[in-house]
Amino acid sequence: MKDNKFVLGVVGLGEGRSIISAVLNSEYYTLGNICDLNEELCKHRCEEFQFERYTTSYEELLKDEEIDIIGIYTPDQFHATHIKQALLAGKHVICTKPVLLGLEEAKELLDCQEKSGKKVFVGQSTRFFESVLQQRKAYESGSLGELVTLETHYKSDARWFLDRPWSKKAGFSWMYNFMIHAVDLAAWYLPNIEEVFGYGVVSSNTKEFGLNVEDTLTFLVKDKSGLYATVEGSYATPCLNKTIEFPIECTLRGTKGISRGGYSQLVMHQKTQKEILPEGKKSYALDANPADFFEEKTIRYDEKHPYYFRFEGESHHAGEYQNYIDYFAETLLSGGTPLPDLKEGVHTIAIMEAMSRSLHTGTPVKVDSILSEYGII
Ligand SMILES: NC(=O)c1ccc[n+]([C@@H]2O[C@H](COP(=O)([O-])OP(=O)(O)OC[C@H]3O[C@@H](n4cnc5c(N)ncnc54)[C@H](O)[C@@H]3O)[C@@H](O)[C@H]2O)c1
Repeated sequence: MKDNKFVLGVVGLGEGRSIISAVLNSEYYTLGNICDLNEELCKHRCEEFQFERYTTSYEELLKDEEIDIIGIYTPDQFHATHIKQALLAGKHVICTKPVLLGLEEAKELLDCQEKSGKKVFVGQSTRFFESVLQQRKAYESGSLGELVTLETHYKSDARWFLDRPWSKKAGFSWMYNFMIHAVDLAAWYLPNIEEVFGYGVVSSNTKEFGLNVEDTLTFLVKDKSGLYATVEGSYATPCLNKTIEFPIECTLRGTKGISRGGYSQLVMHQKTQKEILPEGKKSYALDANPADFFEEKTIRYDEKHPYYFRFEGESHHAGEYQNYIDYFAETLLSGGTPLPDLKEGVHTIAIMEAMSRSLHTGTPVKVDSILSEYGII
């Protein structure tokens, strides 16, 4: 801590740009140092944020004793190694999604984290977007009644992402890089997902890039409570305009209402049953006026656009990161564990592994059997 603020260092300055903005706008943090292998990018970020320090060595960043927390925004394939190094250097960690690309190193990492006594928070950014936060509040207030099912998706024509050199290297998949946002939302509402089943297609659009990973996917995930969710992804074919279909969408269907929130629309649609129904009525006739029974509204948060999107267009996630780093600090100060933590993150990766196996075996796959295979439970 310096002047009563957490000192945070950032590694990976592409999307890492968003956490730099968040740190500089937070009352809880001060920016310790920034790091990228690409020196030009380091200089560019220093100029952009009027910051004077940088390093091209992650080891040097970790040696800085003033730094309390490392924000990791390197390519997916490096997260496991970079988290472990940070923990061994005695730092707390905020790591972007996907926390891992498989479970091979999960047990070692969980043990390393426990031994270190430090926190690892997984930056599942969508949970921290305005309409998704508001939807969660509505759900927790009980206004939707009991949850019956939910549908989540992440659908985006993301072929642009294949310009990144690491997107064509082993370990990259649309599922782990993109669909994890939709999987995380399902797991947020159904925290004990035990079985998954799904289908996927590798379209010729993906094959044109020399990749052989499913780009169009649909899964059913079942929770130990008996509830289930559908989770869908689509990444290499044209998508509808985001005002018609949110790129990331979460629809909650409850006994007394329904709501739809998502990214990147600052809007939530909600329909809830009126507290007082006409006497003796539990449902309405076909010719009745639904407005007598339900309140249906579209709530907009447009004024928050500049807060959430601070750079070109909607290219980065600064507002979500602002929300999650401030939540991280507040939780740390009150002695709690910021969620999703490494354990929860690993469970989500196990769900992803079960999805992957289901695609290739054509059968439902149990999540616990995978966790026990890797010695995690
Ligand atoms: N919504 C979200 O939460 C969200 C959005 C976008 C990206 N991401 C995640 O952020 C991560 C980075 O994605 P990106 O789009 O910024 O990729 P990118 O390729 O633009 O940036 C990654 C940066 O990491 C640097 N780097 C790689 N290895 C390094 C090392 N050992 N030490 C220091 N720097 C190193 C690279 O030079 C590069 O500048 C990915 O894991 C991605 O999944 C999350």
